[in-house]
Amino acid sequence: MSAPIRILGIETSCDETAASVVLRDEDGRGEIASDVVLSQLEEHSLYGGVVPEIAARAHVEALDTLIEEALSRAGVTLADVDAIAATSGPGLIGGLLVGLMTGKAIARAAAKPLYAINHLEGHALTARLTDGLSFPYLMLLVSGGHTQLILVRDIGVYERWGTTIDDALGEAFDKTAKLLGLPYPGGPAVEKAARQGDPQRFSFPRPLVGEARLDFSFSGLKTAVRQAAQSIAPVSDQDIADICASFQTAISRTLKDRIGRGLARFSEEFAGVVADPALVVAGGVAANQVLRATLQDLCDRNRFRFVAPPLELCTDNAAMIAWAGAERLAAGLPADELDVAPRSRWPLDADAKALVGFGKRGAKA
Ligand code: KG4
Ligand code: ZN
Repeated sequence: MSAPIRILGIETSCDETAASVVLRDEDGRGEIASDVVLSQLEEHSLYGGVVPEIAARAHVEALDTLIEEALSRAGVTLADVDAIAATSGPGLIGGLLVGLMTGKAIARAAAKPLYAINHLEGHALTARLTDGLSFPYLMLLVSGGHTQLILVRDIGVYERWGTTIDDALGEAFDKTAKLLGLPYPGGPAVEKAARQGDPQRFSFPRPLVGEARLDFSFSGLKTAVRQAAQSIAPVSDQDIADICASFQTAISRTLKDRIGRGLARFSEEFAGVVADPALVVAGGVAANQVLRATLQDLCDRNRFRFVAPPLELCTDNAAMIAWAGAERLAAGLPADELDVAPRSRWPLDADAKALVGFGKRGAKA
């Protein structure tokens, strides 16, 4: 048995600076030797959203130390790693430049191959690190920048089955929170308020429900929330709680319909081929308990395995980037040249058409 592959991963595509060392053995089993993440939440919360300039600067300041820490926590030096994996898109270009340039410099200095990783591929392959999933499976990515249902066929082979035609789901949570006067980031605040609320008080729209296509739309929901709040102004804490709870009800019903159709399509396409179908969730919104319960229930009813990696691996991190590098190396896929450029837009599925409004917030994931 040969020694496991050991990869140093770097992630700087949005507001988390992260470095990690991950191992992958011959049988495809993964192990996270270290996983260091520095969130810039405080730097950005003052502005109610991520400020690209501030993000890029913060990455520059933190990255070297974080890489040293990741290596030392894993008990290795650069000489011990087999390759460097750095996120090169999609995301905020300033941050991507910082991470990719650092990755290139290390690769050159230590004479190691460099893998320029698509951040979305990192999310897509995480379930193989945490749960040893085999291909193919479905992945729902729900974050501040993306809402996509993706068929993960193989390493580097992805089909986008559905995406949002306007706001990402996390964005809908953030905007709803903002207009109700709740703090940033909005998702956790909305979920917390909703616990005290009446989920049936308001009947909010469920866009695209019933349609055969697998896309999502959340901007109408946000507008309906604004109108509901205005119609009963001034809103009390109980009103806010009721609006949040009803907002989550609408999302839960929407996802049930949209993802339900996705599961049916998967079952049809892989009938007799895939014995243990699975749906994986990724992205920051995966922290939401109502969403998790909805997906769990949907999977139970459809005999799908529901895989929700630990939260710190659902949100942005470098272990998933290192792992994607390890998977690529193990599969014999070529490393990248050192002149590879970062890409603020980089769809996983090269054949997927850009939909109206998709990725307008800078395509961060
Ligand atoms: O994947 P992620 O950490 O990074 C970016 O997209 O940058 O996702 C962040 C998003 C934010 O929109 C945040 O409001 C949302 O995930 N989020 C949640 C919850 N926790 C985070 N949304 C709903 N419920 C939550 N508990
Ligand atoms: Zn992400």
